[in-house]
Amino acid sequence: MAFEDKIKQLLSLRTQARLGGGEKGIEKQHSKGKLTARERIDLLLDKGSFEEFDMFVTHRCTNFGMENKQILGDGVVTGYGTIDGRLVYVFSQDFTSYGGSLSETFAKKICKIMDQAMKVGAPVIGLNDSGGARIQEGVNSLAGFAEIFQRNIMASGVVPQISAIFGPCAGGSVYSPSLTDFILMSKENSYMFVTGPKVVKTVTGEDVSEANLGGAMVHASKSGVAHFVSETEQEGLEMIRKLISYLPSNNMEETPLQVCTDPIDRFEASLNTIMPDNSNKPYDVKDIINLIIDKDSFFEVHGRFAPNIVVGFARFNGQTVGIVANQPKYMAGVLDINASRKGARFIRFCDAFNIPIVTLVDVPGFLCGTGQEYNGIITNGAKLLFAYGEATVPKVTVTLRKSYGGAHCVMSSKQLRGDINYAWPTAEVAVMGASGAAAILYGSDLKKMEDAQEKKNFLAEKEREYNDKFANPYNAAKYGYIDDVIEPGNTRFRIIRALAALATKKDSNPVKKHSNIPL
Ligand code: HXC
Repeated sequence: MAFEDKIKQLLSLRTQARLGGGEKGIEKQHSKGKLTARERIDLLLDKGSFEEFDMFVTHRCTNFGMENKQILGDGVVTGYGTIDGRLVYVFSQDFTSYGGSLSETFAKKICKIMDQAMKVGAPVIGLNDSGGARIQEGVNSLAGFAEIFQRNIMASGVVPQISAIFGPCAGGSVYSPSLTDFILMSKENSYMFVTGPKVVKTVTGEDVSEANLGGAMVHASKSGVAHFVSETEQEGLEMIRKLISYLPSNNMEETPLQVCTDPIDRFEASLNTIMPDNSNKPYDVKDIINLIIDKDSFFEVHGRFAPNIVVGFARFNGQTVGIVANQPKYMAGVLDINASRKGARFIRFCDAFNIPIVTLVDVPGFLCGTGQEYNGIITNGAKLLFAYGEATVPKVTVTLRKSYGGAHCVMSSKQLRGDINYAWPTAEVAVMGASGAAAILYGSDLKKMEDAQEKKNFLAEKEREYNDKFANPYNAAKYGYIDDVIEPGNTRFRIIRALAALATKKDSNPVKKHSNIPL
């Protein structure tokens, strides 16, 4: 073949590979309102930055006449590119080829980019849209999945791993995304479940749709499997680009610094009046977050799950931090099982990737009752406690209002290696709230009283006494558990200074194989 023809052949093979399963499959994909694997990559990465690997790979299966059904690339597009100029590795499952199902060679392509991402220290982003294990390949497909799982586990805490679900994700294939750091699901067309509605019907008799069993809203609000939901695939890809902007490329890197145009000493007078006089009145802690961080920098994680705790990334003076805040607007900000799991997972991510943690505390305690106890609030609450205590990144805590009981200890207290702990003058640091405390301390006195009004007056007097003693930050400050009581309007400046002071912090845990977090 002449040189020129060889080039023509290359270009023609490339064109063929870029069509994946072919024009018809692409049309079908579009008719479902879905993008193709390559369109997704184009939107995810900086224009023209994608370098593809293995577009000529084909499967090796000879079962069921598969030797006659070869598609270049074998159903997954893999390679690397950049997001805002920073290197990322990507794989994008191509539903037009064998339903995006995973073969031995398909898995090898994914493993190749994961291995390289680990060597160079770059995030891995997986775009999932697949019918699961390629049925014709049998056990080779299962082996391929397990090869990927093992790499997900080894990469955990070394490079950020992000999964988007833009189509089916069922059976064992849900476990690769669930081993990654963040899962985003698009509202339409995406679902994740271990067994689909048909099997559920046979096994349990339950009638349930795909969306109700494992759609985006279910996983974002009920199971907590999904961290983000996007209206469209396009929006989802934009959200991943944004998420990447907050993260270091690997665990040895500092977090990326952005230019900050918001004055670091911006005094926010509205914070001096934001707290309701009645300490049982709710407010939205997100208002406080948005007033203290660099303008418009809050990127919420797990926003629809356990809203009684708020977690997300933000910037102070251009530097990424992880924010963890109790949310008095929902269930008074109480810590329950889901809030504890959500907070713990986020804190561990931040700690693994050198992201300082800023904690805003307004917590009445742990949720009580059989519902919580039977489902293990003890073990789950301990996850949050463990995550804070284990974290060695800079930890700045601001107690806004309530900080009661065990929840006080948990929420980045001084004794859990909180580095700088501030409180607003509205803070109440105590073992419990006044009414509970008075009822317990004076139970025997109350028993002796017969008149209801007398009891009420007595309790009110004792509650007042208790509040005077404990419903303030100064009792904790007296012992050095609070480093300073700060003016709310000045919170931004004080946090930025604290983070600057802690920038060179070094702390470590004892040498061990790994800890045994109460899972
Ligand atoms: C081989 C598959 C396939 C699979 C789909 N296809 N899934 N080929 N192995 N797992 C092929 C179809 O034969 C079809 O080929 C094309 O992909 C498109 O599929 P359709 O069924 O036409 O598409 P749609 O109607 O949109 O339905 C999508 C679907 C359905 C819901 C995903 O295809 C489906 O139920 N597939 C099987 C899912 C499954 O049970 N997978 C195994 C799970 S167990 P043609 O040639 O007609 O275009 C598992 C174990 C992993 O994954 C374990 C890891 C430890």
